Amino acid sequence: MITFEGVSKRYPDGTVAVDHLDLEIPAGRITVLVGPSGCGKTTTLRMINRMVDATDGTITVDGRNVRDVDPPTLRRGIGYVIQQAGLFPHRTIVDNIATVPLLLGRNKKEARTHALELMERVGLDAALAKRYPVQLSGGQQQRVGVARALAADPPILLMDEPFSAVDPVVRTGLQDEFLRLQDEVEKTIVFVTHDIDEAVKLGHRIAVFQVGGKLAQYASPDELLAAPANAFVRDFLGGDKGIRRLRFTQELEAEDDASGQTADTVADKAADR
Ligand SMILES: Nc1ncnc2c1ncn2[C@@H]1O[C@H](COP(=O)(O)OP(=O)(O)O)[C@@H](O)[C@H]1O
Ligand SMILES: [Mg+2]
Repeated sequence: MITFEGVSKRYPDGTVAVDHLDLEIPAGRITVLVGPSGCGKTTTLRMINRMVDATDGTITVDGRNVRDVDPPTLRRGIGYVIQQAGLFPHRTIVDNIATVPLLLGRNKKEARTHALELMERVGLDAALAKRYPVQLSGGQQQRVGVARALAADPPILLMDEPFSAVDPVVRTGLQDEFLRLQDEVEKTIVFVTHDIDEAVKLGHRIAVFQVGGKLAQYASPDELLAAPANAFVRDFLGGDKGIRRLRFTQELEAEDDASGQTADTVADKAADR
């Protein structure tokens, strides 16, 4: 579990990026941070692995104050995936994926074999292993980014708009495979997006941020759609569109009921998301 208690970040120029944040991020689930540009999502994410240090408050990872852990040690247990995948241009795909295991002194052959397995898991053809990042499409590069983060097998993954740079059809495919993969690996994932549809699709819990780095609401997708906490959240959900989304999730549940499942099963399914 990751916790934020009264956490604020004021940059040296005086910008308050995050303002008194309280948040509990459960282990083994996908928690989404969503909100418009500049509302403090990236800053919040980077305070977890200390790429940015909070100016106030306490952040804990599995009960330990991150301030008491030196950053390299902390980051060994926390993978980081960013929008442009951040691949090394002069390394082949397989060596990009094996970067961390190789750094940690794993045997080269073993690391490459494991990297090839990961390629398959994220839906990349093994034939791409010897290519260089520039020879891959944007969607393929994002998959490499995810595979590389998984190669180090960290219990926690921070993902900052990992699917934003690809077109909508590719993005849908990446999201679907990401959910399938998470079912297997059950990492603690903190996922940043500005896209509310992506948040609703991927999030077990969703933290909606508003400008000024304030948490507007923290809830499950269904709760969020059914009862937006304020006018900002309602607008961000998109008014009528938000209501249509809710109706859609309710219809799915009604279908489940009709197919003879108990309410518990439906609740379990909701909890599984
Ligand atoms: N290094 C920095 N120095 C000063 N201000 C920053 C810095 N990084 C981000 N900010 C500001 O902090 C606010 C939050 O930024 P950020 O966390 O990147 O938001 P988001 O990821 O939601 O777009 C913005 O106003 C941004 O301009
Ligand atoms: Mg950002």
